Amino acid sequence: MRAVVRDRYGTADVLRVVTVDDPVPGPADAVVRVAAASLNTADLDHLLGRPRAARVATGLVRPAHRGVGLDLAGTVESVGSDVTGVQPGDRVWADLFDSGHGAFADRVRVPASALTPLPDGVPFETAATAPHSGTLALQSVRSVGPVREGERVLVNGAGGCVGPFAVQLAKARGAVVTAVDHGGKAAFLRELGADETVDHTREDVTRGGRRFDVVVDIADTRPFLAFRRCLAPGGRYVLVARRLGSFLGTAALGTPVGALTGVRAGTFAWRPNQRADLDELAALLSSGAVRPRVDRTYFLDEAPDAFRHLAAGTSRGKLLIVP
Ligand SMILES: NC(=O)c1ccc[n+]([C@@H]2O[C@H](COP(=O)([O-])OP(=O)(O)OC[C@H]3O[C@@H](n4cnc5c(N)ncnc54)[C@H](OP(=O)(O)O)[C@@H]3O)[C@@H](O)[C@H]2O)c1
Repeated sequence: MRAVVRDRYGTADVLRVVTVDDPVPGPADAVVRVAAASLNTADLDHLLGRPRAARVATGLVRPAHRGVGLDLAGTVESVGSDVTGVQPGDRVWADLFDSGHGAFADRVRVPASALTPLPDGVPFETAATAPHSGTLALQSVRSVGPVREGERVLVNGAGGCVGPFAVQLAKARGAVVTAVDHGGKAAFLRELGADETVDHTREDVTRGGRRFDVVVDIADTRPFLAFRRCLAPGGRYVLVARRLGSFLGTAALGTPVGALTGVRAGTFAWRPNQRADLDELAALLSSGAVRPRVDRTYFLDEAPDAFRHLAAGTSRGKLLIVP
């Protein structure tokens, strides 16, 4: 079978598509035939080994995982002797963030406990867009408490991997959504359902008088105090942190500063690959409340090009990899 691998950190040039032996499940494992996988910002971070501090977890000198790819949708092909939760033929999906990576391959061996059944009503190509970024959006939006009909929600950094899910989750709850990203993504954000778009290169949404009940900050380019200016009284702010410093700063100071100024501010303890989250996402995907956009589908051999596309920041929706 074929698999996308890398032996060192670097740009897409370090990726190779190699032929390897078919995986054999250990006692607690399943082997999944991959139907579709997708790229996330986290895949690019793992490829580049950024931020450097994260290499404590991902491999100090070289990457701990040779295989690449987190988001997986496919069919169980074989299971180990101790596995009871899934069986050959089952449709499954997963985020392999803490389960060995390696979704960009014809087949992948994973701990069977990492797999969640995928309902028949969700096509593989749709499912593959969502486990990692959809879960990040779901957990961040959930962390601000229920979003109510008519609330004004600002999604900052709405046009990447997580933002489109956050926009559609807020719309599914009846919110009025303002989506901030660069102007080239405005049409894409409108298509997702955003009621209003703001080009961050031309306008500072925190100045100018708009007030929001909820701010979901995915871009993480400025301190949460800046967003305090545009929060309505009692408003809620959540940071989807890309920098350790801002994560720690918001976690430590969000509650006391928020309490002093009459708002709620914080980040959230991300838990990847939770079955309850994937079940909730499956319901949203099969009802059509969330409709992920796919910018382009690549074959395994083209995985380096898919990474270059993601790195260029020009994608409008998820990038799929299909074997
Ligand atoms: N607990 C946690 O908080 C937690 C856990 C896991 C992961 N994460 C983080 O979550 C993030 C995932 O986000 P993602 O995958 O959606 O990232 P992404 O794909 O890079 O999307 C970020 C978007 O923000 C836009 N942007 C850049 N600067 C901006 C600005 N000043 N104002 C408004 N928008 C701006 C980007 O546009 P361009 O493409 O033009 O730059 C891009 O469209 C990752 O950084 C990851 O590290 C957080």
